[in-house]
Amino acid sequence: MTKMYRIGIIGCGGIANGKHLPSLSKLANVELAAFCDIVEERATEAKKQYGSADAEIYTNYEELLKDESLDIVHVLTPNISHAEISIAALEAGKHVMCEKPMAKTAAEAQLMLEAGERTGKKLTIGYNNRFRQDSMVLKQLCEAGVLGSIYFAKAHAIRRRAVPTWGVFLDEEKQGGGPLIDIGTHALDLTLWMMDNYQPRVVLGTTHHELSQRENAANAWGPWDPQKFSVEDSAFGMIVMENGATIILESSWALNSLDVDEAKCSLSGTEAGADMKNGLRINGEKFSRLYTQEIELSSGGVDFYEGQSEDAPDVEMRKWIEAIDQDLEPVVTPKQALVVSQILEAIYESARTGKAVYFNN
Ligand SMILES: NC(=O)c1ccc[n+]([C@@H]2O[C@H](COP(=O)([O-])OP(=O)(O)OC[C@H]3O[C@@H](n4cnc5c(N)ncnc54)[C@H](O)[C@@H]3O)[C@@H](O)[C@H]2O)c1
Repeated sequence: MTKMYRIGIIGCGGIANGKHLPSLSKLANVELAAFCDIVEERATEAKKQYGSADAEIYTNYEELLKDESLDIVHVLTPNISHAEISIAALEAGKHVMCEKPMAKTAAEAQLMLEAGERTGKKLTIGYNNRFRQDSMVLKQLCEAGVLGSIYFAKAHAIRRRAVPTWGVFLDEEKQGGGPLIDIGTHALDLTLWMMDNYQPRVVLGTTHHELSQRENAANAWGPWDPQKFSVEDSAFGMIVMENGATIILESSWALNSLDVDEAKCSLSGTEAGADMKNGLRINGEKFSRLYTQEIELSSGGVDFYEGQSEDAPDVEMRKWIEAIDQDLEPVVTPKQALVVSQILEAIYESARTGKAVYFNN
């Protein structure tokens, strides 16, 4: 008989309602059994929409973790509490999916990884862009060697004017940074995963507070409050890996640029290149001629023909529950997510000191 997994949700805000709850509730072997938010109405509302009839409501996550019947906990709070809550949940014997970035600092991310290893419970991080169709096909192409050895890449996280004005995204103390740690993190995760290269050697970065102090700015989510905007509005980095491969990371919530692209990467390898413009494109050379191929993504893949949703959040949640059920390694491992956090932190440090940051691998 299929095991039913009882899940507790900690943090019932934007990402809980936008991704985790709708996608988890489509799975037959999952029961949304407990909801916690420091704002009680949010937990109550989430239960009403997605919870089982007898689901519990909490305002203190420590109380939720005492429920021994819960198998899995999703940590969907602001970055400042990712490590504290995830470690407590692992120690309480739960498998944990924590939202991205892994933690506010690399040291906290390291403690999360160690807690996962110590407890033997599974830990994964919500890098949902890996589960898009274009990403999964590109990963397969990379693994099959179609691009050869990838020695140059760009990680794109550029918005023209889309500063998140809800919650605590502008608060340095609670988030640890701005667009770099918020959306740069997705683009970098995707890039490292495609390259399958987690050995950084040296990082150089800059951060900018150029547009954050403007009043009445044009913005997708309404004008921001310059007084509250303590994080950077843009950050850029250059990452050189142990094998010499070089990554340019560009991230901004507000940049005067028409070249906008988010949660995407461009890759250049010895055999071919790839980018995620207009879907997925491969470029290379054959018979002394250059070629560009576009991969057809709208026709549906294996999941589609098996009647399964191909939407990234649905695939992400399905694969996470499968990893627990079949005792597999989650697609996003804590080790990989830790390296993302270490590189982001090195970019912030380099921006602060004006010096390159060297890793001792
Ligand atoms: N994967 C993605 O693409 C994606 C997108 C958006 C946000 N996120 C991540 O999700 C996290 C939350 O972002 P959001 O947009 O949902 O923010 P949000 O402000 O909308 O929601 C966070 C919720 O957590 C609650 N909360 C805060 N501290 C708590 C605590 N100690 N215990 C219980 N509840 C607590 C808040 O009251 C709020 O309801 C952030 O880390 C963010 O980076 C990921």
